[in-house]
Amino acid sequence: MVDKIVEISRTTAAPENLSIDTLTSDDTMENSEKLVAINQPSTDQDNGKPNNLKKSRKREKKYKPKFIHGNYNRYYGYRNKPGSGEEDIRLLSFKREWFNSKDVLDVGCNVGHVTMTIAKRFLPKRMVGLDIDSNLISTARKNIKYYIDAKKENYVDVSESENVVHVPCSANGESSPINSSMFNDASVSFPENLSFKQGNYVLNNSKQLSLVQEEFDTILALSVTKWIHLNNGDAGIKMFFQRIFRHLRPGGRLILEPQPWTSYKKRKNLTLTIQNNFQNINLKPEQFQRYLLDVVGFSKCELIDVVHHKSKGFRRPIQMYTKC
Ligand SMILES: C[S@@+](CC[C@H](N)C(=O)[O-])C[C@H]1O[C@@H](n2cnc3c(N)ncnc32)[C@H](O)[C@@H]1O
Repeated sequence: MVDKIVEISRTTAAPENLSIDTLTSDDTMENSEKLVAINQPSTDQDNGKPNNLKKSRKREKKYKPKFIHGNYNRYYGYRNKPGSGEEDIRLLSFKREWFNSKDVLDVGCNVGHVTMTIAKRFLPKRMVGLDIDSNLISTARKNIKYYIDAKKENYVDVSESENVVHVPCSANGESSPINSSMFNDASVSFPENLSFKQGNYVLNNSKQLSLVQEEFDTILALSVTKWIHLNNGDAGIKMFFQRIFRHLRPGGRLILEPQPWTSYKKRKNLTLTIQNNFQNINLKPEQFQRYLLDVVGFSKCELIDVVHHKSKGFRRPIQMYTKC
């Protein structure tokens, strides 16, 4: 039996203009790369012998696709108990004022559940969900209809509840008060405010970085840094943070949920590139805060929540960085 290990590298040409629309256009979707390293079994068929069932189960296990970018197609099945009607617990600590009538980008949006809830509940002017995996993006687009059909929400903004911890992390750090006089902009409606795009948020070089324009008021990067870091090393994660900073307008916010270093180890052997990057990582997630404040240029960091997820692995801090 011959095993094929297929991992096709990225071939997208460097864009000339780095607006989010140009960089992540539908053209790149058509040329989209294979993102899952798949160990494909040969075409052997079972010959009907009883122990072949065992063998094929073993084979299935062995040839399970590797989601090398964290591009799990059942991610929300693991995170949120399926069929329970429970929503993603992280949404409870998000404030309307961070999104309403704003331009918002969700980097690594997966199939778009968080993206769509924010687009519908908080009515940003423009909500863009971006993911490296074209299959996830096409599922997200199909999912929009379920959010349109769902009953109008009677949402109570609980973000001022006592459970939310506000900790200024820098010398001038302060939590900003809720502006209760915020009204919805009548020109904004769901789902017209929402779009999904396929693309890699990590740029290739500093020339591309220099072309990035201020386009967004809020950028979400939830549970994505580990994957960016493992696949692109320290240089890639730095490029990721620099691009976010340049993409934000003055006063803009980065909402960041980094995975801890301990969680990297489990994934360190997914590909040779990841193995190599893992061994050479110097900028550990615990140092991101200093890097974002001292090097990238964010002026303040607040801890907005440490999510009380049932599963310990998902209990991660969510931080908010502000660009002055
Ligand atoms: C673990 S999932 C998190 C999904 C979502 N942000 C959340 O927390 O609910 C990470 C997502 O990031 C995407 N991703 C990984 N690397 C990326 C990159 N370089 N650019 C854009 N998306 C990326 C993956 O495809 C995957 O859907």
